[in-house]
Amino acid sequence: MNILVTYASMTGTAEFVSEELHDQLEGMGLSSTLLDMGDLDIEQIKAFDKVIICSSSYGAGDVPSNGAKFYKALTEAQLDLSSIDFAVCGIGDGSYVHTFCGAAKKFQAALQQAKANEFSEALFHDCRKDDEPEVKAVEWVTDIFAGCPT
Ligand SMILES: Cc1cc2nc3c(=O)[nH]c(=O)nc-3n(C[C@H](O)[C@H](O)[C@H](O)COP(=O)(O)O)c2cc1C
Repeated sequence: MNILVTYASMTGTAEFVSEELHDQLEGMGLSSTLLDMGDLDIEQIKAFDKVIICSSSYGAGDVPSNGAKFYKALTEAQLDLSSIDFAVCGIGDGSYVHTFCGAAKKFQAALQQAKANEFSEALFHDCRKDDEPEVKAVEWVTDIFAGCPT
């Protein structure tokens, strides 16, 4: 299985979480590729069996700047991503009551709109309640891929 972990991150938290996800997947014997979303072209995601989108939020639930180009491509084109399996890992802060994990939810909605298949329930992590998002994220990804053939 060929997994892509890609991150949209402003100050490095979602990037760090993604590195931990990637390391965990590799440790489980799975093939994982880690990419900055700023370096990711929309067509590239079709080469992967599973795509994990990890994003923090800025402004009022906005996508971090390194994810803007990818998000624009995701929403502007009439895409058919029905061949894509994805899961979303949102890193946010619950004090942003109305826009908690807003960017991750935007990615989720855009992928659903493009008919991609959400293969796991999203993780929306609240860093206000728990400042170790990488621990929860690693548990989340381990549960998802436990027992998967390598
Ligand atoms: C100016 C600013 C705006 C933010 N807006 C939101 C928001 O709308 N929703 C949310 O859940 N978190 C919001 N956050 C919290 C960040 O997403 C959170 O701190 C996250 O861990 C940052 O991850 P990063 O380092 O990967 O960018 C905001 C943080 C800042 C500094």
